[in-house]
Amino acid sequence: MTWIAAMPIDRLRSEGKAVRKLEGKQVALFAAGDAVFACNNRCPHEGYPLREGTLDEACVLTCNWHGWKFDLSTGDNLLQGDRLRTYPTKIVDGAVWIDVSDPPPEQRRAQALANLRTALDDHEYDRIARELARLRKADTDPVEAVTAAIEWSYDRLRFGTTHAYPAAAGWLALHDRTTDDETRLICLLEAIGHMAWDCLREPAYPFTSESRPYDDVAFTAALEAQDEDGAVALLRGALDAGRHFADLERALTAAALRHYADFGHSLIYVFHTGRLIDRLEPRVEVPLLLALVRSLVNARREDLIPEFRGYAAALQAWPRTSRASADTPLALSDMLGRSVNATMAAVVQRAEDVSAENLYDVLLAASAMNLLRYDMRYQERTGNGVAENVDWLDFTHAITFGNAARLQCRKFPELWPQGLLQMACFVGRNSGFVDQAIGLEQWRVRDRRSFERACLDRLMDHGEPEYIHSSHRIKTFLAACEEVDAGLPDTSADIVMAAVHRYFAEPLKRKHAKRTAHQALDFVALED
Ligand code: FES
Repeated sequence: MTWIAAMPIDRLRSEGKAVRKLEGKQVALFAAGDAVFACNNRCPHEGYPLREGTLDEACVLTCNWHGWKFDLSTGDNLLQGDRLRTYPTKIVDGAVWIDVSDPPPEQRRAQALANLRTALDDHEYDRIARELARLRKADTDPVEAVTAAIEWSYDRLRFGTTHAYPAAAGWLALHDRTTDDETRLICLLEAIGHMAWDCLREPAYPFTSESRPYDDVAFTAALEAQDEDGAVALLRGALDAGRHFADLERALTAAALRHYADFGHSLIYVFHTGRLIDRLEPRVEVPLLLALVRSLVNARREDLIPEFRGYAAALQAWPRTSRASADTPLALSDMLGRSVNATMAAVVQRAEDVSAENLYDVLLAASAMNLLRYDMRYQERTGNGVAENVDWLDFTHAITFGNAARLQCRKFPELWPQGLLQMACFVGRNSGFVDQAIGLEQWRVRDRRSFERACLDRLMDHGEPEYIHSSHRIKTFLAACEEVDAGLPDTSADIVMAAVHRYFAEPLKRKHAKRTAHQALDFVALED
């Protein structure tokens, strides 16, 4: 303890309050009857001086700037928000003594993590940032807060994994690229803020605690039957038997690709769950897997709707053998401007004599060409039907799905047909919403490094109130860079980077009051 004589008690009692600088700290002192209180003079909200606050008879101090109320005997915030740092006091020989020593780092770390969980409950963005900064000041790696946020959020995601977890993997990748404190804090804040947002006002939705001996066939069948309890019991059985994500990854990837599921989300979630588990502490594995299994159970199966119903037949028609002659590679023009079925047919037709990697390169280039040429009149239209509610995210998904498909299918090559045909679903579907007049030259990236720096600057201050957009920006940017760096042919790489260029540069329209009203009236008019 570091006791310091601050001032005579008589003087404090006559003045009621005072501020003293002690050991570099600005300490506010208050006299209330026989009691004496000391606290940080800077309000933990925005730093205004608490000396100017109002103390009531119950020893509650109100900061008059925004009305936060603190119990001076405990430091508790009686409204909502950060706790107030208080200091022990005693009166000895007519003087007020204050212990200004800091708690040990471990205690400060525990307090910051506890405060963080409270901040997550209400998505208190500014407070999350401050608690992260406090963790750093307590000599703790603030990345620990991402683990804490996953443990807090995983069972509040009603339908399982959302974009928040893949985005967190992206933000952590950017965090690890820099030593700049502010940039690092942004990355963690955005990752954790997204989790808090996706769980806002959600209770916990408990998972079954049952555990059953694992086997691949039963696990796959439970997922296919959308039986969450069965799939989770088998997952728990696997974990109880000492298995890890890596042991289950083949079954999870196959399950994600069994259908053209959730517009590609399922595979993206499997892929990024693996990356998060690799990056964070081992204790994230169980919560991330539980959330992932819940999302696989709940995934929509778009291959069962007419637009994509040809998927099963195309998969059935996939040639059993491949001669993979590189002499006659697939051309990008073969993939553009076709329907879903025609695109899948073109892929199947060449699957026997073209390697999976070549098919992949061309499908990714076609996905990027569609993104580059997204016809923004579709985001401006108000009198269209729901089937034409098409925006940027429909196109960026094709890129992030392609990235996940390549890396997962390289690990499990027997899944290439599913991965490639689902890329073809994206390409064929999005081909109907492009503007052929948009050319590559207009958006070509001539200096990759400076373009990346500009994208990163934009990401670090993206200004998007909706996390869905910032998460798509970061995932699309990182997926595009990873694919280009992995050796995509130059012509394809140019299209991919140009597409990201346009996606970052063009406006997004996210709210459609007129369109929503129009579609509601049309829809209800046909109701009985
Ligand atoms: S600065 Fe004290 S409540 Fe805002």
